[in-house]
Amino acid sequence: MNEQSREEQSLFLEFPLESLDFMRAGEASSELKQRLKKLGVKPELVRRAAIAAYEAEMNVIIHARKGTMRVEITPARLLILVEDEGPGIIDIEQAMQEGFSTASQAIRELGFGAGMGLSNIKRCADDLVIQSTPDQGTRLQITINIEKSDR
Ligand SMILES: Nc1ncnc2c1ncn2[C@@H]1O[C@H](COP(=O)(O)OP(=O)(O)OP(=O)(O)O)[C@@H](O)[C@H]1O
Ligand SMILES: [Mg+2]
Repeated sequence: MNEQSREEQSLFLEFPLESLDFMRAGEASSELKQRLKKLGVKPELVRRAAIAAYEAEMNVIIHARKGTMRVEITPARLLILVEDEGPGIIDIEQAMQEGFSTASQAIRELGFGAGMGLSNIKRCADDLVIQSTPDQGTRLQITINIEKSDR
């Protein structure tokens, strides 16, 4: 496939994310899930994308000020890019550990803060790149490959 036709087969989605907007929490990832289903993406990949997107979305809502989720879908892969303005993550390795959380008591009472989100994203992704600048924000790049046999 040449670049032109690959480009034509790309689909871009964009969702704004607001801090502590629990009314709309999970909306971006659930809309993504519906769109992927409609596109005929294999259920196992839809499931992995939906989990990864949900955890990344909730992390912006809970830990940052505001952000954006952008999704690019090509025949070969799903790319989920989540960027936020917020406190950033000082120690990414520590944040990745299961059970590590800085969530407040109030957030834990809402059922979040088990410290499982980032490790869940890692498990669902074929590739995960986390970049973060303290006091500025965080950027997650999540890739889920679509195998030739799935297309
Ligand atoms: N977008 C972000 N901005 C700033 N800090 C973050 C962000 N995402 C994660 N973190 C930090 O990394 C920690 C671990 O994140 P993780 O998603 O694994 O757990 P959690 O959000 O605390 O709990 P859970 O996801 O299980 O509800 C968070 O507690 C927070 O300190
Ligand atoms: Mg989380």
